[in-house]
Amino acid sequence: MGRLEGKRAIVTGAGRGIGRAIAEKFVGEGARLVVCDLVPDRLAATAAALRAQGEVHELAGNVTEGAFCRALVDFAVERLGGLDILVNNAGIAIVEPFLDHSLDAWNRTLAVNLTAVFQLGQLAARTMVAQNRGGAIVNMASSNGHVGERGLAAYNASKAGVILLTKTMAIELADRGIRVNCVSPGWIATDLTLNSGLDPAFVAGYLDKIPMRRAGKPEEVANLFAFLASDEASFITGESVVIDGGQLSEE
Ligand SMILES: NC(=O)c1ccc[n+]([C@@H]2O[C@H](COP(=O)([O-])OP(=O)(O)OC[C@H]3O[C@@H](n4cnc5c(N)ncnc54)[C@H](O)[C@@H]3O)[C@@H](O)[C@H]2O)c1
Repeated sequence: MGRLEGKRAIVTGAGRGIGRAIAEKFVGEGARLVVCDLVPDRLAATAAALRAQGEVHELAGNVTEGAFCRALVDFAVERLGGLDILVNNAGIAIVEPFLDHSLDAWNRTLAVNLTAVFQLGQLAARTMVAQNRGGAIVNMASSNGHVGERGLAAYNASKAGVILLTKTMAIELADRGIRVNCVSPGWIATDLTLNSGLDPAFVAGYLDKIPMRRAGKPEEVANLFAFLASDEASFITGESVVIDGGQLSEE
């Protein structure tokens, strides 16, 4: 029996990268899923691959749109009969030096990485409260929410915001049996880090900052999401768990 057997879950940004790995892990652990992504083809490919393993429904859309967030939660309740787990994974990163950081980059980053986490989290939590059987919300933060990184003012601020939003949700929802945690990955090998136009020299040099001298794998992050979403983490709430190969432990 899987660690998430029968749990009804939403995973955002599941079309590729860490979100897809989380969806795969959750289905493998017995969860029944609704997956979403902004890019329909990407999402359809994920859903098609995962349906061989379990129950997976898909809804394409943009988590920065309130109407889509409402539709997503309603869709999950309709297809799955309720909601036990929300994974707020969708996120973007725009690299611009602070002196040239555009307001557009700031607004777009905050909308996806923080405001959508608030809005979907609130809608999911209201559903869970109405069901009166608890639940778990796991948000995607970043090591960049703990320490700053050059060129990523909006990203760093958004992820620090996720960490404190997570703690606030956790303390307000604890007496309803809803746990809220976040995961703070370091450098993980995905399209975001490897194929987003970052300077190849910067990418190659990045491994020197990591004591384990390698990038993390999406599956390693997915394992942590599965643990925090499961009943094995029943006394953990309000936490940001760093998964970074030791990067933040070294000065
Ligand atoms: N890769 C890393 O090193 C790393 C490190 C720390 C945190 N993270 C975080 O992990 C999450 C996933 O990152 P990834 O590396 O897998 O990125 P990715 O770009 O490979 O995948 C992100 C997915 O989210 C989707 N998405 C983006 N905006 C969306 C929106 N508005 N609505 C719905 N879906 C949307 C994209 O289409 C994409 O499929 C992000 O929140 C990111 O900030 C990544």
